[in-house]
Amino acid sequence: MHEMAFAIPYSSSFLSLLLFSLLLLSSTNAQTYKNISLGSSFTTQDKNPFWVSPSGEFAFGFQNVEPDGFLLAIWFDKIPDKTIVWSANRNNLVREGSKVEFTADGQLILQDSNGETKWKANILAGARVSYAAMLDTGNFVVASSDSAHEWESFDEPTDTILPMQTFVRGDTLLARHTAVNYSTGRFLFTLRADGNLVLYKTLLNSEVAGTPYWSTGTKGYGDQVIINQTGSMYLTASNGSILQMLFTSNLSTTNFYQRATLDYDGVFRYYVYPKLRHARQPETWSSLPNVMPLNICVNLKEDLGSGACGLNSYCAYDLGENIPTCHCPNGYSFFNADDVQRGCKRDFSPQDCGEETSEIDLFDFVEIESSDWVGNDFEYLIKDSEDTCKQACLADCFCAAIVYKSPNCFKKRYPLSNGLKDPSVLTKSFVKISKEITTLRTGGGESKKNNDSSPSLILIGSILLGSSVLLNFLFTFFAVVRSTNRETNTKAADQHQGMNLQRFPYEKLNKVTNGFKETLGRGAAGTVFKGILTLDGMEKHVAVKRLDNMVTKNDAEFQAEVNAIGRTNHRNVVQLLGFCNEAQHRLLVYELMTNGSLESFLFGESRLNWNRRMQIALGTARGLLYLHEECSNSIIHCDIKPQNILLDDSFTARISDFGLAKILKIDRIQTTTAIRGTKGYVAPEWFRHMPVTGKVDVYSYGILLLELVCGRKNFEAEAEDQNRMVLADWAYDCYSETKLHLLVENDEEAMNDMKRVEKYVMTAIWCIQEDPSLRPTMREVIKILEGTLGVSPPPDPSS
Ligand SMILES: *[C@@H]1O[C@H](CO)[C@@H](O)[C@H](O)[C@H]1NC(C)=O
Ligand SMILES: *[C@@H]1O[C@H](CO)[C@@H](O)[C@H](O)[C@H]1NC(C)=O
Ligand SMILES: *[C@@H]1O[C@H](CO)[C@@H](O)[C@H](O)[C@H]1NC(C)=O
Ligand SMILES: *[C@@H]1O[C@H](CO)[C@@H](O)[C@H](O)[C@H]1NC(C)=O
Ligand SMILES: *[C@@H]1O[C@H](CO)[C@@H](O)[C@H](O)[C@H]1NC(C)=O
Repeated sequence: MHEMAFAIPYSSSFLSLLLFSLLLLSSTNAQTYKNISLGSSFTTQDKNPFWVSPSGEFAFGFQNVEPDGFLLAIWFDKIPDKTIVWSANRNNLVREGSKVEFTADGQLILQDSNGETKWKANILAGARVSYAAMLDTGNFVVASSDSAHEWESFDEPTDTILPMQTFVRGDTLLARHTAVNYSTGRFLFTLRADGNLVLYKTLLNSEVAGTPYWSTGTKGYGDQVIINQTGSMYLTASNGSILQMLFTSNLSTTNFYQRATLDYDGVFRYYVYPKLRHARQPETWSSLPNVMPLNICVNLKEDLGSGACGLNSYCAYDLGENIPTCHCPNGYSFFNADDVQRGCKRDFSPQDCGEETSEIDLFDFVEIESSDWVGNDFEYLIKDSEDTCKQACLADCFCAAIVYKSPNCFKKRYPLSNGLKDPSVLTKSFVKISKEITTLRTGGGESKKNNDSSPSLILIGSILLGSSVLLNFLFTFFAVVRSTNRETNTKAADQHQGMNLQRFPYEKLNKVTNGFKETLGRGAAGTVFKGILTLDGMEKHVAVKRLDNMVTKNDAEFQAEVNAIGRTNHRNVVQLLGFCNEAQHRLLVYELMTNGSLESFLFGESRLNWNRRMQIALGTARGLLYLHEECSNSIIHCDIKPQNILLDDSFTARISDFGLAKILKIDRIQTTTAIRGTKGYVAPEWFRHMPVTGKVDVYSYGILLLELVCGRKNFEAEAEDQNRMVLADWAYDCYSETKLHLLVENDEEAMNDMKRVEKYVMTAIWCIQEDPSLRPTMREVIKILEGTLGVSPPPDPSS
């Protein structure tokens, strides 16, 4: 292990957070508790049409959510996007001039501009109300003189649960309609009276539970859902014991805003947001990776109903981002691009049933790989080829699509439902569309100049628009890394090559790191120090790498390499911010990755869960593909291993230390012997004086992938069974003896996902072939992992 990269001790930065928050606490304690007295009111036209909590963190009042629509809501008031956590009138917005009144007789009333009552807190008659208050927990209460709560917003949750809020039997969350439309949507989360905690799709346009798609299975036991002060959300039994952990952020509510929300896409997510401006965390909501359910596209199938997406629409899940997206097949388009879950409509006239078989020539199919439309079959045929199955559908005017897996041919009726595209699906589907559309589409490309507004282009445009609008909405949820990337992307695009890199005087870096005081890691490349830098007026934590083993003393060469590194910009590589090249000093300044290196999360106690590990596998592959093929100078990393895969706040894999191979002298042979003669991450061609190509990274990636799948180190000297000592060898043995389960036997999640285990192990074995030409490219690796390319049985790597 010659390099620790710049892993930071999690606790030390936490300490500084704590110090900050103590300061904050003492200042908030100085404020007085604000009681809202009887007879108080505000209208939408007031300067501040809301009441804030003593700390200022929550507000109760009007938010203008549509051009002329106001929502009476509770929101996080200290963060720029004022995230709404509760609302009173989501399906009944009020207009400009509306008023909230805490009446003299203790009622809480929302009146529209014409005086009509639109909402009223459900306070028992005879309650002796004396004041109301927006509490710092996010709970708005109406209380009696002995401070007993006569009414509280926590008892009537909307789509969000906050820390300290208890969610009891009978309580329900209803998702909003879309990212920007707060009215009741399509999904429901409830702790049923029988104690089972369940996610349902609702019956169309209603608040009635329809098809369940996730549950804790705690019928007879579940009693309360609680989020405690250290960000654990769990279901308890009536005796208080924990029945099931739902989420663990392990972050204090003192330092982080936290919420659990049933999102409009039907996924229940837990979000955190750092409270402090200068904290090292991104200033945006980030979702914990273990969402519920893990893949809604696969989980939600309806007997009656459309499934996770709308009718004629298919659902595809992005495991990396944890987002389901809805798509229309070609030839279909969204009813409403702002509400893609409404489904898709045909852009052509259906086959005419009047004249038997006469229209066969007018129709064709669009093929969707690894897809299915579950249910809706009206006929089952045995056909020995796709073509004969298609012919059967063409000859049948009722047939809207077929799903085929040799020799099974299923005819589907219109409208199509439960559409799913997922690597785990073994069938293929073909959706019947009019040839008019197909010819227009292919013709559209050719005659683009002549006829810019041909229907085909409109069609394609509307599909693109649909998906980009969806992405935009999702963006607000998942802006963590993306947002920063997007900024730097546009910045980079505006600037000349390498110009976005700052050149720092040595003295400045000396100051930034407080005299190179705090070491984050030390390795062959040099020593890494922690520092705080002000960039664009914002304080930013950085990692300053002092290069000790420079091969080149040639300034121009160093500069050229640094520029090449500086031009990279990808969410799976660590961003270089600047450098110092002054006298004998060579330093590189990187953004700081708060979770340190993958090494500490890959093995042993702190091992990341299966899903997370698989996301890191994909992220690393994408980062490598970018370095190999997509950035302006292709970069071979030459040193891929867990220590060089860093993790940001949301555990996204970020490749570090790329581009250093040329300017540093790294003795790979020595590294290898250091791990006692085993192959390790280093490709065999290093020893054989063969040319080094990108395939050396593919090899190292293969070893890393095995480690990610199996959650163990490639080499374990202490393994009881000799055959298990070298993971690469053992994995091939398990594969060839079809005993892959042995590799993941201690990992229940992986055991439940054996198809993926098999695919990933096969891919890894291809990557570690001795002969570099047999190894796939990173582009092929990604296609296989994502399921768009199949993988054939790999040979013994050493043969
Ligand atoms: C708020 O009202 C309650 C009940 O009347 C009272 O006990 C409490 O002292 C009041 N707090 C302040 C700061 O006025
Ligand atoms: C929000 O969704 C509801 C329910 O479909 C719909 O009636 C309403 O018009 C939508 N609001 C906007 C502004 O689109
Ligand atoms: C919250 O719950 C978790 C899980 O049971 C526990 O480890 C933690 O100590 C709890 N935190 C507090 C402040 O009670
Ligand atoms: C609490 O209740 C659960 C479920 O009924 C039971 O399994 C557990 O043993 C109980 N714990 C205690 C301490 O009574
Ligand atoms: C939670 O955080 C504490 C202190 O920061 C740490 O000791 C503990 O290991 C963490 N637990 C988990 C499950 O990450």
